[in-house]
Amino acid sequence: MKGNFPIEKFSNVETPFYYYDTQLLRETLATVNQEAGKYEKYHVHYAIKANANKKVLSIIRESGLGVDCVSGGEIRATLEAGFPAGKIVFAGVGKSDWEINLGLDQDIFCFNVESIPELEIINELAAAKNKVAPVAFRINPNVGAHTHANITTGLKENKFGISMEDMDRVIDIALEMKNIKFIGLHFHIGSQILDMTDFVALCNRINELQKKLFNRQIIIDHINVGGGLGIDYEHPNRQAIPDFETYFATYHKHLKLRPKQEVHFELGRSITGQCGSLISKVLYVKQGTNKQFAILDAGMTELIRPALYQAYHKIENITSEGPVEAYDVVGPICESSDVFGKTIDLNKVKRGDLIAMRSAGAYGEIMASGYNCRTLPEGYITEDFI
Ligand code: LLP
Repeated sequence: MKGNFPIEKFSNVETPFYYYDTQLLRETLATVNQEAGKYEKYHVHYAIKANANKKVLSIIRESGLGVDCVSGGEIRATLEAGFPAGKIVFAGVGKSDWEINLGLDQDIFCFNVESIPELEIINELAAAKNKVAPVAFRINPNVGAHTHANITTGLKENKFGISMEDMDRVIDIALEMKNIKFIGLHFHIGSQILDMTDFVALCNRINELQKKLFNRQIIIDHINVGGGLGIDYEHPNRQAIPDFETYFATYHKHLKLRPKQEVHFELGRSITGQCGSLISKVLYVKQGTNKQFAILDAGMTELIRPALYQAYHKIENITSEGPVEAYDVVGPICESSDVFGKTIDLNKVKRGDLIAMRSAGAYGEIMASGYNCRTLPEGYITEDFI
């Protein structure tokens, strides 16, 4: 089954472009709210790194989620989209002074701090403003997620976060600082995680750490478990809305909370991933010796995931019902890794056909680049075609 696209209307816009199915996005958001809402103290922050398209953001804002930012630029985009600063969490291993100052000026909810030198600078900058910065420490739980090596982040030696061994020392330092308020712990084990036992392992680790803290009479108010819930790239239509029910229930079952503790989630891919597709046009069909190539006007500049992570995106010829043939689907960029897929079954392809790259709503448009002096792709939503 192919995706549902307003194909007749697509002829009015230039390819390549991103198309976002807003009905699916809204349904996904409603499901997130419904499932997280079953548990009183659960708060979801949308990981804006996945997609910061303004139209997409405005729909997410309407749903009431908070936002997880990793740069000053993301904080700006979040505020411009109308999200309240009080629902922003701000992570990142290398926060510049201006980014920290922006967070302080805006009174964001929390800085997720990743090292002692960073903590010292936040304390200093907050002091200069006569403010107290709320911080959570990002702890490396040393839990491996069964996902691509490039997107695993929770292991011990990692540029991200603070090791569990250093946790007590860092907390002691923070408790001494006048302009720091230590409010919680932050974790993130990786992305595109479909095996719930990875999240169970994280919960068990957090429970251990909480016990340790409790023995020191330290009770924190907030636990941020990061993001990471994956989507079904193979079958974008089969479960277009990820299984948020099981996801939140897993945390509810395994994460032991003290009274009044709040839990925060930072979900990116699972929120916007399935609603977006990259739409491109076939420029040429080239017959090779043993294969044929469908050469598109979109390349790794519009969607880098296949080239960077060997990621699979389902590819569909949305303007043909012709007999299925195998094609290597490639882009126009001068790089041999500019390949979307090899030996892909597509309805017979001819010049001018529209090709959809599915499940591209997260880490698609936002990772586009201007390499080869290409123009960044536009992003359209369903309403743009009505
Ligand atoms: N929180 C933190 C601290 C993160 O580092 C990330 C993602 C998230 C939340 C959101 O994770 P999600 O729910 O989207 O899995 N560009 C890669 C993915 C990089 C993920 C980076 N961190 C890709 O295209 O697969």
